[in-house]
Amino acid sequence: MIARPSASSAGRLRPRRSCLAVPGSNPRFLEKAQGLPADQVFLDLEDACAPLAKESARHAIVHALNTGDWSGKTRVVRVNDWTTHWTYRDVITVVEGAGPNLDCIMLPKVQDAQQIVALDLLLTQIEQTMGFTVGRIGIEAQIENAKGLVNVDEIAGASPRMETIVFGPADFMASINMKSLVVGEQPPGYPADAYHYILMRILMAARAHDLQAIDGPYLQIKNVDGFRAVAGRAAALGFDGKWVLHPGQIDAANEVFSPSQEDFDHAELILDAYAWSTSEAGGKKGSAMLGDEMIDEASRKMALVIAGKGRAAGLHRTSKFEPPTG
Ligand code: GLV
Ligand code: MG
Repeated sequence: MIARPSASSAGRLRPRRSCLAVPGSNPRFLEKAQGLPADQVFLDLEDACAPLAKESARHAIVHALNTGDWSGKTRVVRVNDWTTHWTYRDVITVVEGAGPNLDCIMLPKVQDAQQIVALDLLLTQIEQTMGFTVGRIGIEAQIENAKGLVNVDEIAGASPRMETIVFGPADFMASINMKSLVVGEQPPGYPADAYHYILMRILMAARAHDLQAIDGPYLQIKNVDGFRAVAGRAAALGFDGKWVLHPGQIDAANEVFSPSQEDFDHAELILDAYAWSTSEAGGKKGSAMLGDEMIDEASRKMALVIAGKGRAAGLHRTSKFEPPTG
């Protein structure tokens, strides 16, 4: 296994509020996706690509990555999972053909750590052979069945290339026999949130390994309110982003996974107030009052998360900290 260049050059901190799925076999979508305001695109060789179209889609994706304008976007290709016979050719064709113009490979239906290690080794050999920077290309792992969820901790820690853990609700619902056909919505008959355990399990593995946690698709593409509600559920827990299947879902995802202006301003104020109160001038105090609120080191950590997400989303603060006088 390789050592990656560094955590900052490995794009763990890239914003991924909206991750746009683009069928790799459709040149029109490959073109159109470039102009959309998604944080990430993933060009799909898996379920959105018919078996007979996989070979030509690999080449269409290489062409689109090498010639398109993807500026500002994280560029990902989803290959087929290791239980098929397509995976190695997907990886070799795409990475040999467009490695320097690619940020991550997404591996679907990951079941154990060995599947990540296998992809890591293949990527390393291709990078070495082609003279690319070894370890630059990251891995996104989709959790889509019970075995993957049970092994998610080992999967998250299986390679320094790992950047995200992605929930795949459609395949997951099928794999556990959940009684619903409406992806992301609650199955009728269960009075609580049927996804809570799964989402939390993924989130804990991601956080324990310093990775991003990404929620999967919402298939009712015309129902933006429904999308917002489901995305809001994942965002409230701490997820970093969600897949989008349609341009109409992009703005909603970018908004739901960014802090509000009010929360961003509040977080920046907490950081300033705490920095001041712990300083010589502020009396070297470990806790302080910000208005009616007591803040301490834990408040600073919470504020850092919100401020970091806000800055990454391009927010600018609209308030200023004034040290108390007298
Ligand atoms: C995505 O791949 C899903 O199965 O939901
Ligand atoms: Mg799937």
